[in-house]
Amino acid sequence: MADQTVLAPRSAVPANVHAVRVLSVKHYTDRLFAFACERPASFRFRSGEFVMIGLMNGEKPLLRAYSIASPAWDEVLAFYSIKVPDGPLTSKLQNIQPGDEILLGKKPTGTLVLDALLPGKRLFLLSTGTGIAPFASLIRDPDTYERFDEVILTHTCRTDRELDYGREIVAAALADPIVGEQAQAKLRHLTSLTREPHPLQGRITALIESGALFEALGAGPLDPAQDRIMICGSTAMLQDLKAIALGAGLAEGANSEPGGFVIERAFAG
Ligand code: A2P
Repeated sequence: MADQTVLAPRSAVPANVHAVRVLSVKHYTDRLFAFACERPASFRFRSGEFVMIGLMNGEKPLLRAYSIASPAWDEVLAFYSIKVPDGPLTSKLQNIQPGDEILLGKKPTGTLVLDALLPGKRLFLLSTGTGIAPFASLIRDPDTYERFDEVILTHTCRTDRELDYGREIVAAALADPIVGEQAQAKLRHLTSLTREPHPLQGRITALIESGALFEALGAGPLDPAQDRIMICGSTAMLQDLKAIALGAGLAEGANSEPGGFVIERAFAG
């Protein structure tokens, strides 16, 4: 068990959250870690959605939105998080250990879901940093491969070590007993770095605008008739990519009205 501040005594747990046990924790860098917790039997969600995660802070729960990084069919709930040294939640959450209890909201929601997109042929999953988390869910969901011929996951980070989580989730999808075969046929993983040398260098925005992304894929440019895009990253990244998607003739989708692209801010803080 970690120090007392991370424990959520069941008696104090508010009605809108579950107290769930942490099953595993893995640290990737001093800025990044992943963890998994048990899934309550009543907890239902769609692949790509987010949920509130947190800890008791004295008498009160301290909660933040986290994308669920495991698919809707999985028995456990996985998450991928940044560590912010002064972040009210992550400065504590980064110390959780297997066996500890964390808080899990009861109402997952979000727009990075297949139902918010119109049918298409190519699905682009564009991520920076921890924005890859919802796509870890979607690339292990058979629905993703049933709806699209090609699934192109891009991940841009500052340094090579920050790409490790993405490499692992892609390897897991390719080896997955449920989606492995479909992933091997349809999933492509493209990485780029902005602060270290790498075969593909630069922000995803620059790579789309210069055409370098499509050159690396050996594929044509964005086609609003056939391409669909999901975007997850920082606020600035979302703004810039949204402008590119709109410029390419795609309309923003929502649960109530499916469109050509959908966006969601990656957790930070
Ligand atoms: P850069 O190194 O040029 O800032 P962070 O770790 O800060 O969340 O950033 C993750 C990645 O997102 C970095 O490679 C960063 O590039 C990139 N990035 C930051 N802002 C934008 C933006 N407005 N559009 C596209 N990519 C961005």
